[in-house]
Amino acid sequence: MKQVAWITGASSGIGEEICKQLAQKGLKLILSSRSEEKLQDLKKSLPNSEEHLIIPLDLEHSSDFPDLAKQAVAEMKRIDYLYNCGGLSQRAEASETSLEVDRRIMEINYFGTIALTKAVLPIMQAQKSGHIIAISSIAGKFGFYLRSAYSASKHAIQGFFESLLLEEAKNNISVTIAYPGKINTPISMSALGKDRNAHGEMDHNQATGMPVEECVSILLKAVDKKKKEILIGNKEIKAVTLKRFFPKLFWKIIAKQSAT
Ligand SMILES: NC(=O)c1ccc[n+]([C@@H]2O[C@H](COP(=O)([O-])OP(=O)(O)OC[C@H]3O[C@@H](n4cnc5c(N)ncnc54)[C@H](OP(=O)(O)O)[C@@H]3O)[C@@H](O)[C@H]2O)c1
Repeated sequence: MKQVAWITGASSGIGEEICKQLAQKGLKLILSSRSEEKLQDLKKSLPNSEEHLIIPLDLEHSSDFPDLAKQAVAEMKRIDYLYNCGGLSQRAEASETSLEVDRRIMEINYFGTIALTKAVLPIMQAQKSGHIIAISSIAGKFGFYLRSAYSASKHAIQGFFESLLLEEAKNNISVTIAYPGKINTPISMSALGKDRNAHGEMDHNQATGMPVEECVSILLKAVDKKKKEILIGNKEIKAVTLKRFFPKLFWKIIAKQSAT
C-alpha cells in the first residue's frame, strides 16, 4: 500500500517543494492551504496526479479540523506523514505590532498547527504508526529583529512538539522538528507588518537564501532517518551553536545582522 502524506502550506515555498519531491518518490498526497486554485495547479503538475487529494483549509479555523481529518482518512485510508508547513512571518517591531497581529500569528503558526496535529493523532495512534513534522525556524532558537510574535510562535512549536515526541514514542509515532534558516521562498511577501498589512517585498535574506529544493531534500533525508531535529540553511545556522557555547559573541554578531 502506498504511503500517504498530508502537507499544509502546499501552495507555496517549502510545502510546495515537499509535495513535488514526495510525489516523485511515489507517495499519495493531501494538499492543504487556503488557495484552492494554486493547489489545483500543483496537483495537475504532480506525477500520479489523480491519486492526490486537495483539502483546502485555513489555519485560523481550527474547529474544522476534526471533520477534515475524518474526510482525509475516509478518502486515503491512512495518514503516514503530517508535514506542518503552513505559516506566516512578521516584519514589524514589537512596539508597533498590535496585539491583534501577535494573536493572529500565534493562531496560524502555533494553534492552527497543533490543532491539525491533534486531529490527525488519533488516526496515527489507531494505525500504531505515523510521523509528524513541524517546521519551526532558526527564529525558534533565538529572537530576532522584527520577529517578536513570529519567534514566539516558533519557540512554542518547539515546546509542543518536543513534548509530543516523548509522549507518542509508545505509539510508534515519530516527530521531527525542522529549523530552517534563510530559505529562498516568498515568505517575506505575506509577512505581517504593522496593522495586519503584508510586507509585500522579497527580502534580500530570502532571495539569497538556500534554494528551496536543497532545503527540502535535506529535510526529507532527516525525516527518513527519523531525526528529532534538523537545522537547515547556510552559514546562518551556525548561530545556534554560537549562542549555546559562546553567548557573548553570539549577541555581538546577531545584533549586526540585517532584519531583511
Ligand atoms: N523561507 C524561510 O526562510 C523560512 C525560514 C524558517 C522557517 N520557515 C517556515 O517554513 C514554513 C513555510 O514557509 P515558506 O518559506 O514556504 O513560506 P511561503 O512560501 O510564504 O508559504 C507559506 C504557506 O503557508 C500557507 N498559509 C499561510 N497562512 C495560512 C493560513 N491562514 N491557513 C492555511 N495556510 C496558510 C500559504 O498558503 P495560502 O496562502 O494558500 O493559505 C503557503 O502555502 C513556515 O512555517 C515558515 O515559518 C521559512
